Amino acid sequence: MRYPLVHKNVKGFMHGGDYNPDQWLHMPEIIEEDYRLMKLANTNTFSLNIFGWSAIERTEGEFHFGWLDEIMDRLAEEGSHVILATPSGARPAWMSQKYPEVLRVEKNRVRNLHGLRHNHCFTSPVYREKVRIMNEKLAERYAHHPALIMWHISNEYGGECHCDLCQDAFRTWLKKKYDNDLEQLNQAWWTGFWSHRFNDWSQIESPAPHGESMVHGQNLDWRRFVSDQTIDFFKEEIVPLRKADASIPVTTNFMGNYPHMRPFLGIEYNKFASVMDVVTWDAYPPWHIEGQTTTKLASDVGFVHDLYRSLKDGQPFLIMENTPSLVNWHDINKRKEDGVHALSAVQSVAHGADSILYFQWRQGRGASEKFHGAVVDHSGSEHTRVFQEVSKLGAELDKIQPIAGTSIKPEVAVIFDWENQWAIDDAQALNNVNKKYSEQCQAHYHSFWKQGIPTDIITMDKDFSTYKVLVGPMLYMIRPGVAERIEAFVKAGGTFIATYWSGIVDENDLCFLGGFPGPLKNLLGVWAEEIDSLYPNHDIVLKTDSQTYQVTDYCERIHAVDADVLARFESGGYDQRPAVTVNQVGNGKAYYIASSNEQRFYDDFYQELAKECTLNRVLNTEIPEGVSVQKRTDGQTDYVFVMNFTDQAQTLQLPQEENYTNMLTDESVHNTLKMDPYQYMILKK
Ligand code: GAL
Repeated sequence: MRYPLVHKNVKGFMHGGDYNPDQWLHMPEIIEEDYRLMKLANTNTFSLNIFGWSAIERTEGEFHFGWLDEIMDRLAEEGSHVILATPSGARPAWMSQKYPEVLRVEKNRVRNLHGLRHNHCFTSPVYREKVRIMNEKLAERYAHHPALIMWHISNEYGGECHCDLCQDAFRTWLKKKYDNDLEQLNQAWWTGFWSHRFNDWSQIESPAPHGESMVHGQNLDWRRFVSDQTIDFFKEEIVPLRKADASIPVTTNFMGNYPHMRPFLGIEYNKFASVMDVVTWDAYPPWHIEGQTTTKLASDVGFVHDLYRSLKDGQPFLIMENTPSLVNWHDINKRKEDGVHALSAVQSVAHGADSILYFQWRQGRGASEKFHGAVVDHSGSEHTRVFQEVSKLGAELDKIQPIAGTSIKPEVAVIFDWENQWAIDDAQALNNVNKKYSEQCQAHYHSFWKQGIPTDIITMDKDFSTYKVLVGPMLYMIRPGVAERIEAFVKAGGTFIATYWSGIVDENDLCFLGGFPGPLKNLLGVWAEEIDSLYPNHDIVLKTDSQTYQVTDYCERIHAVDADVLARFESGGYDQRPAVTVNQVGNGKAYYIASSNEQRFYDDFYQELAKECTLNRVLNTEIPEGVSVQKRTDGQTDYVFVMNFTDQAQTLQLPQEENYTNMLTDESVHNTLKMDPYQYMILKK
């Protein structure tokens, strides 16, 4: 299937990035030079005004749009598109000075000073009003501008505010959730614990290190409130924009967490995605970490791409920011080796991105981001390694234009769920340093990635019925209706894989009574009696008929009540206890894996499963370690991406009967693919 591109004026991939001419208004010759360089870099799209508030509203109520008019007009003349930002990510000093309520209050209940960015209260009526006025003016002025293709709402929403206004809003949110019934809340939060019972709503406050932090239901509701309040702020931001022209899409840039590649956890992005038109994210993984190959990292990055593609059920997402070379905020700011930037960009495209946009077009001359990578560095020259690589990539994106808008409909989904992660992180149990939830999801995902089996990453709220295989690692929280939907999926012929620490708590973080895995017990046919956290040097292994695998981190003592045992543990208290089970239910199967294991276990397990479930692979061939194969399709033409994430040459045998065209060289390709280190090929069939 082919999705419409972001805007009717966009013909293929967007290439460009964050452009901050507002920092250069006193040096117009630099801005003039930018237009020349933009052409040479083969770029076509720029995000403007992300932090432009103080350049527009220099004093309260006095608006200066002249500079922005000029830049927008000129970019239109030059044939570039503009993604225009609402500047609420940072506000002018006069506003913080005159209306301190716009400033954020931290957990310790101390109000921040003016400074940094992303430092505002989402509840403050004053802030909301100031943002509304600004957005109305932007909408009036630019909604019909020929350069405009999309609104970039604020920047990387995140963080929380604990001011009195937010406390009141939290209580209002709770009253609504618990039908104004404090007793309901007391039960949901299990407030009998340590004498926490409330008898008046006014006693409730947000969690704080010097106050309450041990009531998990409360922590969870606070996170839900913060997430909802942020989304509410976004919804208010877009009202004037929609009013001026509802056809211009809106987005905000989502984030990733590093060095462990996982999505940003502060906001429930699945909910957030439902109120925006396009999902976009800022990808800044560290590509070279000492002692590690890029292979697993590439797979972990692929996981996040797939997750963001899955948020809108396969609709292509955008890379709103990435660096062409290095960042300035990793511990060690290693540049991307030659070719790695283009490889990482092509990987984004392979997983469904329709843009490669940079932070930043030009390095700012001063302040904290002056050494952050950019397309144009302080030399101002196009004769740099980075500029040349960007320009070459731009030309390649032009060549593969028909791929934009295509997507993929995988047969496999791995469940990764924000609320589940919040609850797991909060639990005082297992390994309190890192429970490794996202790592566990990524370990399962990695086995599909290696085989070239496209995979969606979905929350437990999504429809499961379109998949053949559903993997739910550490499904600790089971919200109402989820177990029933998984059961229906299996009965209809699906294959479900669950692991240790599943079916433990309900949506309020209250433990299920009557044995784990709670509402999944009958489906899985097991009872998980105890879970153990392991030190690194334990001697427990998992044995199948032919193989022995090392158990890592966690091991459960389970009973196979109805399920068949496929593998057992060996040693100590676990000797001969079931380790992997399967339960046939209706037309499908439900597997249970009772321990966390070395990667080889998942690879072997999913290789067998892929055969059993006849899962389609992108290429039916041996894929060398470190090579990733992904696909996009419009239903007629398949676009196959072969990417070598190693610093070694690799060879791959194409299936005999298949002939492809290399889209970058126009040569036909069959039989053997020889890949240089970090090389990628984009093939068409
Ligand atoms: C992003 C942010 C950009 C820039 C970039 C640097 O998180 O949105 O404005 O600061 O990081 O890597």
